[in-house]
Amino acid sequence: MSQYLAREPDNNGLVNYSIEENQTWEFLYHRQMDIIHGKACDEYIKGLEILSLSENKVPQLPDVNRALRKATGWEVAAVPALIPFGKFFELLANKQFPAATFIRRKEDIDYLQEPDIFHEIYGHCPLLTDPVFAHFVHNYGKIGLHASKQERVYLARIFWFTVEFGLIQQANGLRIYGAGILSSKGETVYSLESNKPERKPFDLMTALRTPYRIDIYQTIYFIIKQFEDIYHAMDSSIISKIHEAIELGDFKPTFPPKPQSQSNKKMDSHDC
Ligand SMILES: [Fe+2]
Repeated sequence: MSQYLAREPDNNGLVNYSIEENQTWEFLYHRQMDIIHGKACDEYIKGLEILSLSENKVPQLPDVNRALRKATGWEVAAVPALIPFGKFFELLANKQFPAATFIRRKEDIDYLQEPDIFHEIYGHCPLLTDPVFAHFVHNYGKIGLHASKQERVYLARIFWFTVEFGLIQQANGLRIYGAGILSSKGETVYSLESNKPERKPFDLMTALRTPYRIDIYQTIYFIIKQFEDIYHAMDSSIISKIHEAIELGDFKPTFPPKPQSQSNKKMDSHDC
């Protein structure tokens, strides 16, 4: 059950955010902008320039959509909160990226389990201005739309290890493209600098067989060389590869089992 309620846009698609909500955006925006240079990939930085998001107010979707449509024909679609898989794939297949319009409260400033508008707009939208990446997500949506419930679980792993937590090797070094990382101060640093996680070359079959936990810093990151790598992985053979992965079975988890009693909050210990 969501702790948050989405903000209802008016007839012009605008949301009347409070002073506190705008302050939260401003704080998160500047906190990330202070650390992402030299960490986020070139296409992400270029995407931020293309979108030129407002710094001190929660961006309005019509403004974001004007820039996105011009770049790749994509747009952001306001959704109530977490949506079912079917709706998720349907939107992506229509070049619409779902975004809940609420922003986290101050007590959740470092982490919340469900994606808020800061994660969706600041984390995901810059790369949707990149034609190859946008095409990959579009293909992903179209394939997911026709996939079975079981196949979708494996497709979710691809999304997790790429769109959410992907790394990319670029000429100027290892960089981040995953939105789940780029919208988190702690994981932006941890994903590149910590000696705890495993970082390995992206391999479709390996990623399909790798379980993950959503409430901790990732224990494995997959590295691509270019967005064409994942674009080509999302071709018509993906469903048969999923069934091959199911046959082969999962790798042993590299993360501890979730303690029953612990709250879901991810302790942002890396900042202290
Ligand atoms: Fe996300």
